Amino acid sequence: MTGGANPAGSCLVLGIETSCDETAAAVVARDGPGRGRILSNVVRSQWEQHRAFGGVVPELAARAHVECLDELIAEALTTAGIGLRDLDAVAATAGPGLIGGLIVGLTSAKALAFAADKPLVAVNHLEAHALTVGLTEGLLPPYLLLLVSGGHTQILGVEGVGRYARVATTIDDALGEAFDKTAKLLGLPQPGGPHVERMARTGDATRFDLPRPMAGREEPHFSFAGLKTAVRRRAQELGQLTPQDVADLCAAFELAVTESVADRCRKAFRWAQLRGLPRHLVIAGGVAANQRLRAGLDVVAADADWTLHVPPVALCTDNGAMIAWAGAERFARGLIDPLDVAPRARWPLDATAIPALGHGRLGAKA
Ligand code: KG4
Ligand code: ZN
Repeated sequence: MTGGANPAGSCLVLGIETSCDETAAAVVARDGPGRGRILSNVVRSQWEQHRAFGGVVPELAARAHVECLDELIAEALTTAGIGLRDLDAVAATAGPGLIGGLIVGLTSAKALAFAADKPLVAVNHLEAHALTVGLTEGLLPPYLLLLVSGGHTQILGVEGVGRYARVATTIDDALGEAFDKTAKLLGLPQPGGPHVERMARTGDATRFDLPRPMAGREEPHFSFAGLKTAVRRRAQELGQLTPQDVADLCAAFELAVTESVADRCRKAFRWAQLRGLPRHLVIAGGVAANQRLRAGLDVVAADADWTLHVPPVALCTDNGAMIAWAGAERFARGLIDPLDVAPRARWPLDATAIPALGHGRLGAKA
């Protein structure tokens, strides 16, 4: 569905995010292409409610979104100093993600859009991660994107809003999932990524020799299941783990991940050059918050004469501002959605991409 497009125009958009275990709402002003301002950005993590179960429980997540979303939206509007009638559009994540949570956020957005007579924008969560650098530093497509989150690990050519070409994907675990499972087997809390990073700071990354999955392979796909298993085996060999053992294993894991991902990006640079993409590598998604990964990819990019772009940590993990910005980018192009648009648990950015060979769980990660 298209409305009145004005890509150069300005707009004010409310963004709602409920695809996993963060409830978030934000107001973003788009003053023109690559010119965004965050007027408010409220995020509430549900992690305490899932802790006892060792992972996100979909039913609990959906209920927790219901319990606080209204309050968060009100806070986002108040902090931005605006009312519903000041908005140009209401945007919400419509997928991919946990279907119960998606229904909560998208239905709330529909109700607000209907009540205030505003257009609705159904946002792809992955597109929101992909476009965040437009908000944070005004970088507009085309560019090469490394998307690393809890459920996805892909390299994509971002050709424009709504136009993505998948270059690579994981054949087993997503990178965030590998961080989370590694944390779990080392007895660290969830979500595991930040805890592995914290422990790794005091660890010796060279004490354990871990594999560099897929290194040297021509196609730039990823694999992390074997690396996680290697960490498990080392931990079992040690028996009772001391804090130093855990720190050393975390550091070795981070180093192996960084070197593996760096190798995959080098391969993807070649693909990008053949396609004539400018030499900009963007990292997005929760794992892009990892400092060792950021530093490692900065070196790889500089060596190949590329520039690395990464959003600030708070805008790498799930948030409402990225949804509002992606909503504003779509609204400016006239891309709005009908009020009966359905949420989608699975929603790949490049629907034409074929599954990678050896892909274990296609439904979750394609
Ligand atoms: O993008 P995100 O917030 O949610 C999804 O869309 O999945 O990503 C969450 C993932 C989790 O697996 C979490 O452990 C990981 O990002 N993560 C990190 C860090 N912060 C979050 N992984 C490594 N280092 C971090 N600092
Ligand atoms: Zn995400």
